[in-house]
Amino acid sequence: MCGIVGIAAKKEFSSSFLLERLKRLEYRGYDSYGYYDTKNLEKFVGEVVVTGDNHTKLGVAHTRWATHGGVTVENAHPHVSCDGRIIIVHNGIIENFAELKKELIIQGHRFSSQTDSEVIAHYFESKLKHKDIKQVMVEFFRQAQGTFAVLVMIKGDEKLYALKKDSPMVLGLCKGMNMLASDIYAFSDLTDKAVFFENNEFAIITESSWKFFDKNGKAINKSIKKIEWENEEKERAKKKDYKHFMLKEIEDEPGVVKRMLFSMDNEQKQVFNKVIKLIKSSKKIVFAACGTSYHASLLGAYYLHQVGVEAQTLIASEFKHYANIDKDTLVIAISQSGETMDVIDALKYAQEKKARIISIVNVLYSSIQRMSELSINILAGQERAVPSTKAFVNQATLLLRICQELGYKVNLSNLADKIKALLEQKEDIKKLAEQIAESKDAYIIGRGLTYPVAREIALKIKETAYIHAEGMMGGELKHGTIALIEEGTPVISLVNINDPDIISNTKEVEARGAGVIMITNNPALRKEKNTVYIHTDNDGKFGILAAIAGQLITYYAADYLGRPIDKPRNLAKSVTVK
Ligand code: M6R
Repeated sequence: MCGIVGIAAKKEFSSSFLLERLKRLEYRGYDSYGYYDTKNLEKFVGEVVVTGDNHTKLGVAHTRWATHGGVTVENAHPHVSCDGRIIIVHNGIIENFAELKKELIIQGHRFSSQTDSEVIAHYFESKLKHKDIKQVMVEFFRQAQGTFAVLVMIKGDEKLYALKKDSPMVLGLCKGMNMLASDIYAFSDLTDKAVFFENNEFAIITESSWKFFDKNGKAINKSIKKIEWENEEKERAKKKDYKHFMLKEIEDEPGVVKRMLFSMDNEQKQVFNKVIKLIKSSKKIVFAACGTSYHASLLGAYYLHQVGVEAQTLIASEFKHYANIDKDTLVIAISQSGETMDVIDALKYAQEKKARIISIVNVLYSSIQRMSELSINILAGQERAVPSTKAFVNQATLLLRICQELGYKVNLSNLADKIKALLEQKEDIKKLAEQIAESKDAYIIGRGLTYPVAREIALKIKETAYIHAEGMMGGELKHGTIALIEEGTPVISLVNINDPDIISNTKEVEARGAGVIMITNNPALRKEKNTVYIHTDNDGKFGILAAIAGQLITYYAADYLGRPIDKPRNLAKSVTVK
């Protein structure tokens, strides 16, 4: 994953300014960070701290999510060549780094980190002895295998060199400076003009010029995209009075649901109608997604089946092994970030098979959006906490809205109010969460529509509270997993009034001593001990509201345990490696 930033400016800027830009990309990785500003090379382990008043007109910075090599200062970027002339930052993985490194070691290069990335600095040093920088970049595209967004600085040279293959990179045209970054959030408060790199392109950037080339070194014309930020900046950075972004983002849900639904009848109406038409005319729908977005897609497949549409959903990293697709298939990618590498790979496979591609994303101009014939924006606003909450709610609600158009019976006009009413129960939910927090394991059971929700709640509990949790079909318990239920084992049961078999599954675990928490819309169970009651008899809405109750349980359990909620260990918000 990792986030990279490079700035070439007319006037001097401070290292704090550079780090502030990097901080905006920190959700891409937060193991270690560093920067180079033509005089100083600084590297640290941990989250980005915005500080320092070294001044420069040129600099690069990097925040890391470790892949090759542990979390150490040596492995933090930037990496520097032996002669100290070449400074690089890299997002991606150089798959054949061992091979390149071997050759460079024979030439006498000495490496000081365990990363794959360091090889880039040495590679440029070695090649620049005989070739000019443009030729070296062309050669790098030929020789380096894997994925990369790389920024190169050469000591004494006032330019930034940027190369992109499969890892995201964008150029922001800001007042008095050009800024290269992994995504547009790095400069969203500074400009609305950006130039997106496509695969296999490189660029030479100064404070006032930008030139793009294809991987063979042929100059190419690029167009400037005007970005509409609207609410992004307002929503972006402020946690306001919240202890964590996660809680703030859960509480944003009524507002973002309303905004997204409004948009489907207004500014996104045209694309929405086209999507409906395409779904109707496709022989088969296959979703591709990962993590939380995958759980939303499972809900989508469920809703589509209810209206008689053939749909299947596949975990994107397994897509090519299981997808049976052709030109009559519609592949729907769901991704909050729009940059998840596994989803991008699935879409490349879909392209090979000539399937049609649409996407549901939360980040405008993201790679997945740009790979799609049609794309709907879920308008959840930037999600800062790594555990996804409001994006899931808007993904699921959008899928419900699509199915409503196809005949699914649901009144979505009061969903935002129902979410608000549920959020008002948060103090009671907090008490239930504390019961789970004391346990090592938890089970979440659902049936039909609530099965994906059970899986989503389990994922949330694992990544946020660090409690082992399994989300499963209630009916499957008796085929094995029930052996793990002991006195006091927490089981969250999602009891949908329209699917009463789950009550038997709940009783089965209760009889074996489980500590059951019910999330239900059955008024007859409302007064039961340890119950979150949700006021709706509609299946679709129950699924979404039950997931939100699970988000609150997770949040409070994690907070009780003192977990780093917004940035859980080992994770990153945008997963741009395979
Ligand atoms: O950006 P995407 O929706 O494609 O991300 C997919 C997953 O990486 C993401 O949902 C992840 O599982 C979250 N940490 C879940 O909270």
